[in-house]
Amino acid sequence: MTAQLIDGTALSQRLRADIGRRAAALAATGRRPGLAVILVGDDPASAVYVRNKVRACAEHGLHSVLERYPATLSQDELLARIASLNADPAIHGVLVQMPLPVHIDPHAVIAAIDVRKDVDGFSVDAAGELLTGLPGLRPCTPWGCMKLIESTGVPLRGRHAVVIGRSNTVGKPMALLLLQADATITVCHSRTPDLGEHTRRADIVVAAVGRRHTVTADMVKPGAVIIDVGMNRDEQGRLCGDVDFGPVREALGPAGFITPVPGGVGPMTITMLLANTLQAAEAGR
Ligand code: GUN
Repeated sequence: MTAQLIDGTALSQRLRADIGRRAAALAATGRRPGLAVILVGDDPASAVYVRNKVRACAEHGLHSVLERYPATLSQDELLARIASLNADPAIHGVLVQMPLPVHIDPHAVIAAIDVRKDVDGFSVDAAGELLTGLPGLRPCTPWGCMKLIESTGVPLRGRHAVVIGRSNTVGKPMALLLLQADATITVCHSRTPDLGEHTRRADIVVAAVGRRHTVTADMVKPGAVIIDVGMNRDEQGRLCGDVDFGPVREALGPAGFITPVPGGVGPMTITMLLANTLQAAEAGR
């Protein structure tokens, strides 16, 4: 018997249905949640991502605007546009798609977004709210991972969680969210000498390094929960995660849980973007 799958597509659908109902209720009071997405330049992958975000808004009754600018847009022009969206009462979330052209400082751009509209949760202010346990908008991918873990019914209190990866967008906020849920945290990264020594003791592993086969069957404890944030390609060009899925699923046994790639974390990121936009609108700010 192998570990149970955590179905991110199904969980996303359930959460999105609830978001749609709450968005409709808010719209009925004249406060339709609104998201502004800004894309600078013509990176094809970014164009696909932003289209998916805008489409998800439309499908769930959220208002959205997609603003596309040429790569020649100046930083000052972008900052002025953000200031105007910060002041727009129809817009509750502002997202500037990364990466930006090299002449624009991403830190300055993120800092310009009103923290109450920072639906990516990337700003220093949003990070500070998470660090100190204040309410606020949480980064979408780690927040989605928390929902996936919650869906297993496995309690986090007192459990040992290992996060592999220390990025500002996933690894670090993931560790803080797990800590806030009373787990005991170990953060591993590319300079950790013996990763398996940590993961073998883990009740929960979140792999977010962007390298195939980072977590192999000999590195997990039976009954653990494995969340795979990785989005890599194998030799055949197929999407795969950071976890050696088949053998790890086997090694976890029937008491374990694992997310597939695709169909695990991926669908949750946009779902939590919708959730954050709704939350910002519900907060009435
Ligand atoms: N580029 C790739 N992923 C993301 C994301 O989640 N948010 C933003 N703003 N840019 C990205």
